[in-house]
Amino acid sequence: MDLDGLRVAITGGARGTGRLLAEAFAARGAQVFLSARDPAAAQQVADAISRRGPGQAEGFRCDLAEPDSVRGFAAAVADRTDHLDVVINNGAPYVEGDDLADVSDDTIESVLAAGGTGTVLLTKHLLPLLRASARPDVVNMISACGEVGHRRSGAHPAFYAAKHAHAGFAEILSHRLRPEGIRVISLFPPDFVQDGPRRADSDLTARSVVDCVIFAVGQPRDCFIREFHFEQVR
Ligand SMILES: NC(=O)c1ccc[n+]([C@@H]2O[C@H](COP(=O)([O-])OP(=O)(O)OC[C@H]3O[C@@H](n4cnc5c(N)ncnc54)[C@H](OP(=O)(O)O)[C@@H]3O)[C@@H](O)[C@H]2O)c1
Repeated sequence: MDLDGLRVAITGGARGTGRLLAEAFAARGAQVFLSARDPAAAQQVADAISRRGPGQAEGFRCDLAEPDSVRGFAAAVADRTDHLDVVINNGAPYVEGDDLADVSDDTIESVLAAGGTGTVLLTKHLLPLLRASARPDVVNMISACGEVGHRRSGAHPAFYAAKHAHAGFAEILSHRLRPEGIRVISLFPPDFVQDGPRRADSDLTARSVVDCVIFAVGQPRDCFIREFHFEQVR
């Protein structure tokens, strides 16, 4: 897949799936602007990506639960590029818990602030850069917890609420941006493993999730893949 020269912004890009995504785009020649809550961690990963090449990366601070931090990340990216081809809304805090009382009020507030408000704000502030691209895509890393009727995860209800907020946002955004040719591509994976076998009887792996993103972004512009849903093993 030729993604050479694409300009990509990604949240939560210093670890986990976000890091794999950043690496996958840079390995195909993309220029990556990656964020994490710890700017040093973001820059460390960006430096490692740049050393490997061919794409280059730069690290930024972005705490999605803090609107000023979100606006700061968007402004910093706008200082460095006049357009973005791909914005990946990946970062989101995860919390476990069957019972509402399992986590503090502060945690509930920050889970919704980051996954809900922060994701909407970042997309809003990066949209002018996407509109300046010849091939703009918004990629949303949601979760099966954002599917209507999903009950199989041990995630806290606040996480379900945040992912439903993200899913609702992605749904209407896809419809409203379609006339402009901006694709909104959303993934709803169940719990997946970072590493593991990629067989029919195995859990979904992060590598396969990343491959879905690369595939969707690499399609010609007539091919607007709106959502990826996955059947769970158990
Ligand atoms: N792993 C799974 O099984 C699974 C399943 C379905 C969906 N997903 C979704 O896929 C995405 C990536 O998953 P993952 O497994 O790599 O996640 P993870 O290992 O739980 O890591 C969470 C990621 O989100 C970032 N993050 C957390 N709180 C944040 C905040 N307030 N502001 C900005 N970034 C924040 C973290 O960045 P820091 O480095 O700053 O902490 C980190 O990159 C998430 O949206 C997740 O909900 C994951």
